[in-house]
Amino acid sequence: MFSVLSSLLCISSALAVNPITVSGNAFYNGSSDRFYIRGVDYQPGGSSLLQDPLADADSCKRDIKYFKELGINTIRVYTVDNKADHDECMNALEEAGIYLILDVNTPHQSLNRYNESTLKLSYNSGYLQHVFATIDAFKNYNNTFGFFAANEVINSENNTIAAPYIKAVVRDMKSYIKAQCNRTFPVGYSAADVASSRWQQMQYLNCGNSSERIDMFGMNDYSWCGDASSYTISGWSTNVHNYANYSIPLFLSEYGCNIVRPRTFPEISSLYGEDMCEVYSGGLVYEYTNESNNYGLVDISSNGTVTTLTDFDNFKKALSSNPAPSGIDGAENKSPSECPAYQSGVWDVQPNATVPEMPAYARRYLSDGAGTPLGMNGTDTQNGSWFDVSSAASEDSSSAAPSTTASSSSSDDNSAASSATATSTSSRSSSSSSHSTSSSATTSKHSKNIAPSKPGVGMTFVIAVLAYFY
Ligand SMILES: *[C@@H]1O[C@H](CO)[C@@H](O)[C@H](O)[C@H]1NC(C)=O
Ligand SMILES: *[C@@H]1O[C@H](CO)[C@@H](O)[C@H](O)[C@H]1NC(C)=O
Ligand SMILES: *[C@@H]1O[C@H](CO)[C@@H](O)[C@H](O)[C@H]1NC(C)=O
Ligand SMILES: *[C@@H]1O[C@H](CO)[C@@H](O)[C@H](O)[C@H]1NC(C)=O
Ligand SMILES: *[C@@H]1O[C@H](CO)[C@@H](O)[C@H](O)[C@H]1NC(C)=O
Ligand SMILES: *[C@@H]1O[C@H](CO)[C@@H](O)[C@H](O)[C@H]1NC(C)=O
Ligand SMILES: *[C@@H]1O[C@H](CO)[C@@H](O)[C@H](O)[C@H]1NC(C)=O
Ligand SMILES: *[C@@H]1O[C@H](CO)[C@@H](O)[C@H](O)[C@H]1NC(C)=O
Ligand SMILES: *[C@@H]1O[C@H](CO)[C@@H](O)[C@H](O)[C@H]1NC(C)=O
Ligand SMILES: *[C@@H]1O[C@H](CO)[C@@H](O)[C@H](O)[C@H]1NC(C)=O
Ligand SMILES: *[C@@H]1O[C@H](CO)[C@@H](O)[C@H](O)[C@H]1NC(C)=O
Ligand SMILES: *[C@@H]1O[C@H](CO)[C@@H](O)[C@H](O)[C@H]1NC(C)=O
Repeated sequence: MFSVLSSLLCISSALAVNPITVSGNAFYNGSSDRFYIRGVDYQPGGSSLLQDPLADADSCKRDIKYFKELGINTIRVYTVDNKADHDECMNALEEAGIYLILDVNTPHQSLNRYNESTLKLSYNSGYLQHVFATIDAFKNYNNTFGFFAANEVINSENNTIAAPYIKAVVRDMKSYIKAQCNRTFPVGYSAADVASSRWQQMQYLNCGNSSERIDMFGMNDYSWCGDASSYTISGWSTNVHNYANYSIPLFLSEYGCNIVRPRTFPEISSLYGEDMCEVYSGGLVYEYTNESNNYGLVDISSNGTVTTLTDFDNFKKALSSNPAPSGIDGAENKSPSECPAYQSGVWDVQPNATVPEMPAYARRYLSDGAGTPLGMNGTDTQNGSWFDVSSAASEDSSSAAPSTTASSSSSDDNSAASSATATSTSSRSSSSSSHSTSSSATTSKHSKNIAPSKPGVGMTFVIAVLAYFY
């Protein structure tokens, strides 16, 4: 009797979280107060290990114990396997009152920022199938906070031309969510700390047609370094002033400079205090596990044992001494941004630049769904997708081979692909090695462009497509 009663109590005490909603420049979770992100970036193994931390229920539950001890309400995950089962981990997170902000890319399925042609090639139907199937994998969890369409794609002065492609991915994700999900999710962008164009990035992604605008902006910002810095020295006071009119929620998707160690997180009193809470909706500390770049809150030994580090205690203390404000201070409905002016070498995007059209083949996903997820080992889409080759071929079989065939025809080359994109960046935030989603495949085990099974694709069609490649 007692155990029945206690298990009933246990069930009823489990938290069910409300979906996050956006209104004006603020987040809400079903209460009349604003919702502030109090989180950590969760990337066990570091940015170089392609691993889904939500697929392993045991390690996930092991870590949730520490998340609860920290008192966080959100984690950010950079890469998942869209084929894996996430139920156990996501439900355990929900019981702990923790939301997930998810990046939808992998190094094999992402925009290649290198130049106009690599951008064009990497934005294709195979890539979008991956993105949409990733949304499918998380759309039924109430604690899925929202999605990042891309992370740090613009990481230098010479790749601002990627901006319209980022916007295209945002638009496509929003269209997919509208068509295939029974609730809405904020779709955002997580920006590198590229001082020269951060303002333009914020404005551009929040200007123009509402169907193409982001719903939230995350900035990776490591400019407050220890006690010698301050709200003003870090430049954060200037940001608060400059971004005060931004019409959508703004938060730190990575923070926690580690030049001064151990970190004591003095910035947290500004972030959740009067200094910043009107303009920012909190942030996520980089990062949970200690990796070679030395940003960890805990150490995980090879046998899976967790040891908390000094930063863990310091972060926990800083959070508990700085509770999220109650109320709706700063929440306002403001106008979207103006599209920023072209400035050669700084912002190489015309204010009236057209956002690339969704590839024709991919449009069927909006009505039919994305179909079978292909997982982390799905075909690398950076050099184009057979879907687009095939749909072009079926539209006009006598047409010249589309540009995708040129690169795909080298598909018998089994040598480890060398990166076409600089994976390291010059910005401060990249020294944190957050997984850059626009890097091209580095050690991709070559996967041939075998057509994945898709409903409605006949065998002769597949053969016709394969003929392009061999
Ligand atoms: C999600 O929340 C809604 C209402 O907030 C509720 O009706 C629904 O049952 C919840 N779904 C799950 C899977 O918990
Ligand atoms: C909203 O989130 C906060 C912070 O996690 C939590 O304390 C509060 O209970 C939540 N409110 C609702 C209505 O779920
Ligand atoms: C873009 O970069 C690719 C890969 O290095 C190269 O093959 C191509 O010629 C470049 N295109 C342009 C327009 O510069
Ligand atoms: C809405 O989401 C729930 C899970 O929360 C799912 O069971 C249900 O099938 C979905 N409804 C529709 C119409 O997609
Ligand atoms: C862009 O600049 C980076 C250095 O910031 C450099 O490594 C890269 O090669 C440049 N890209 C092009 C296409 O010139
Ligand atoms: C905004 O985009 C939608 C979808 O692409 C399109 O139907 C609509 O015409 C656009 N509106 C304007 C004002 O350009
Ligand atoms: C914000 O908007 C107000 C009212 O329109 C304006 O006076 C102010 O200059 C704007 N601030 C910035 C930093 O753009
Ligand atoms: C974090 O890991 C790095 C690399 O293994 C190591 O040098 C450093 O001492 C670790 N940090 C802490 C606080 O244990
Ligand atoms: C796991 O590894 C840690 C550190 O390497 C060690 O202290 C601990 O005893 C090990 N635990 C088990 C169960 O082997
Ligand atoms: C953008 O504006 C410029 C002049 O400001 C004009 O020459 C160009 O044709 C316009 N492009 C588009 C796509 O509307
Ligand atoms: C991907 O392939 C590698 C090598 O074959 C394998 O070790 C790994 O488990 C696979 N990952 C997934 C998520 O399927
Ligand atoms: C993509 O194309 C480039 C240039 O042709 C090549 O170096 C690279 O290996 C290709 N990547 C994949 C994953 O096929």
